[in-house]
Amino acid sequence: MKMPLKITVAYDNHPPLAPALTASWGFACVVEGFEKTILFDTGTSGPILMKNLAALGFDPARIDTVVVSHGDWDHLGGLWTFLDANPDVEVYLPGSLSRHLMDEVRAHGARLFPVGTAPATVCPGVVLSGEMDGPRKEQALLLQTETKRMVVTGCAHPGIIAIAQRLAAIPPELPMLVMGGFHLKDSPSTEVEQIVQTLETLGTRWVAPTHCSGERAEALFAKRFGKRCLSLCPGSTITEEDLEG
Ligand SMILES: [Fe+2]
Ligand SMILES: [Fe+2]
Repeated sequence: MKMPLKITVAYDNHPPLAPALTASWGFACVVEGFEKTILFDTGTSGPILMKNLAALGFDPARIDTVVVSHGDWDHLGGLWTFLDANPDVEVYLPGSLSRHLMDEVRAHGARLFPVGTAPATVCPGVVLSGEMDGPRKEQALLLQTETKRMVVTGCAHPGIIAIAQRLAAIPPELPMLVMGGFHLKDSPSTEVEQIVQTLETLGTRWVAPTHCSGERAEALFAKRFGKRCLSLCPGSTITEEDLEG
């Protein structure tokens, strides 16, 4: 790795960490520390994404790769503004997205990689789940360091358990962080409790539910995981040092 792993939340609907950052419905984060610097998802609004990236000190030119989890506008919406600023990127899109959308990415000059249903490697340590079935087809991101693994989800429409199961099955087996949108806004507490237990049996040691996870679910995760539940908002960062205990 060229530098220690760092995940920075660039777009989220929770109140931001600093006044220079804007909260808005959606999700995006920047992953550093691997061969490629990755933007995972792009939020709803291109201008807000670019403003937040700038406030966090990210020059769009530093991003090598954009991964879009799924076609909902709160994850895809900022893509075009980003590509206007830096078209010299590879873009990994779920393969079932429309041909028109794929053509648009190519028209911007980016290198398009449609992702099928099997896991795909972006670079050493960075693996995509492959497109998974659900109310919306979606892909998630797996980051592997020497001692830990991190699962990053957009909305988790295929189910946070299904995603964690698929990515936990990719060796090596290491303690896992599951972070991002868990889409549990409308889930009753009993269902969330069950999800917490199943995530633990899959090796989940840390969680960071945000975006569409829902307040009730976030509170339940915090209660169950204690200090090992990290709260996220625009400007939050996660490094391996945050994943202790
Ligand atoms: Fe979403
Ligand atoms: Fe979504």
